[in-house]
Amino acid sequence: MENKPILVLGGTGHYGKHIVRSLLEKGEPVRVLSRNAVKARKILGDGVEIIEGDITSRESVVESLNGVRAIVISVSAFTPKLIRKLKLIERDSVLMVLEEAQKAGVSRVVYISVYEIREDLLRELNIQLGIAWIKLEIEAALAKSDFNWTVLGVAPSMEIFFAMTRGDTMMVPGGGPPALPTVSPVDVGEITAQTVLRGDLKGKRFRVTGPEAISFPEAAKRISNVTGKTIKFRKIPLFPLKIASVLIWPFNPFLRHLLEFIKLMNNFPQDVVAKVPEDHQLLVKTFSYTPTTFEMEVRRRIRCHDKSP
Ligand SMILES: NC(=O)c1ccc[n+]([C@@H]2O[C@H](COP(=O)([O-])OP(=O)(O)OC[C@H]3O[C@@H](n4cnc5c(N)ncnc54)[C@H](OP(=O)(O)O)[C@@H]3O)[C@@H](O)[C@H]2O)c1
Repeated sequence: MENKPILVLGGTGHYGKHIVRSLLEKGEPVRVLSRNAVKARKILGDGVEIIEGDITSRESVVESLNGVRAIVISVSAFTPKLIRKLKLIERDSVLMVLEEAQKAGVSRVVYISVYEIREDLLRELNIQLGIAWIKLEIEAALAKSDFNWTVLGVAPSMEIFFAMTRGDTMMVPGGGPPALPTVSPVDVGEITAQTVLRGDLKGKRFRVTGPEAISFPEAAKRISNVTGKTIKFRKIPLFPLKIASVLIWPFNPFLRHLLEFIKLMNNFPQDVVAKVPEDHQLLVKTFSYTPTTFEMEVRRRIRCHDKSP
């Protein structure tokens, strides 16, 4: 059993590559399904079995599942290129993976979801397109299934602070919430690897966060302190983005999806934020790892990118 590989779907992604790395560090055999084997090899190195294929193809899925002992689902279509296939990739194909996994007798499934999804908030904010609905549907399908499943509701990556920084300015549409839980992709990788290897987490859902929730202005200040380079914070009004999203919609729907994400982010429930220390303590108690603080992540990122943010 131990020699059978673990299949990581989305193993080349922002979170996926850290999941793969953590599994490899533990000496586990890993298989990754990627649309581009050459690119995947470059990202993941030689220690991984790579199957070139597409999650939307039943043939690729069946081939990927052959002889695996567990699956991690970390695929995402939240990019301008893939957004038109969001439902096909993140919903239909994931449901197909579950169907084929059941046929293949693979019972251990770890699903990477989002931190917290509240149907009432989605309705209140008029979120119609978002991945949040898809995540709800997949989580419900797992809850009804016989799989030995665990859901990891992952906070936004700490990368969000850098993604919104251009030069010396952090520009945040809507300004962001008073505080937002975020996590280092390194911690997501380690926690996911430990989760998929454990047999005692059936039917559990964890909220995966770093040690604290912080605001965008605070993040800008703390990046400045670590790097010695001043990062200014600027709130960008949402109105021009809304107009652009309506105009661009027929050509590329990504901006509308992005706007929904920004709406959700700006309205991140602060009662959930209040539970971040508790959620984090549960992770520390359940898993064996050294949590990455915001400052550690800033330094790690500088080392990886070999440039200051
Ligand atoms: N990033 C965040 O801040 C964040 C926050 C909360 C939750 N999450 C969740 O975490 C998960 C992973 O997100 P991420 O940001 O790591 O994603 P990402 O960096 O955009 O990576 C997407 C992954 O999906 C794979 N993929 C996309 N289309 C595919 C297809 N047709 N067939 C096979 N593979 C396909 C890609 O593989 P190839 O390109 O190699 O084919 C890639 O490995 C998602 O469920 C996301 O909702 C992310």
